Amino acid sequence: MPSVVFISSRGQRHELSFDRPTSAMQVARSHAVAGIEAECGGTLSCGTCHVYVDEADAGRVGAASQQESDMLDLVAAERTPTSRLCCQIELCDQLDGVVLHIPETQF
Ligand code: FES
Repeated sequence: MPSVVFISSRGQRHELSFDRPTSAMQVARSHAVAGIEAECGGTLSCGTCHVYVDEADAGRVGAASQQESDMLDLVAAERTPTSRLCCQIELCDQLDGVVLHIPETQF
């Protein structure tokens, strides 16, 4: 079963399996991963599901859409070149093992 890895700002690692196409945010929320707030439930209107894609995985995750990029301008933590909103990261077999770092704050 493919998996996604979330790493907290304190270095806590959560490796979570998923068994069908889903968003990284949904996997985090279903396992109560601290630091992924996702207040809007994935409608791209809150910016509280911010993650930093590990640099080694940035190529296969891809870039944010313009709408997502506009929302990333409003996130609480520093935006970096690998910043994404994890409700917009669709997980599938091709993203098995992808590593997402959680910022210190979402507010
Ligand atoms: S959950 Fe609100 S923007 Fe991702």
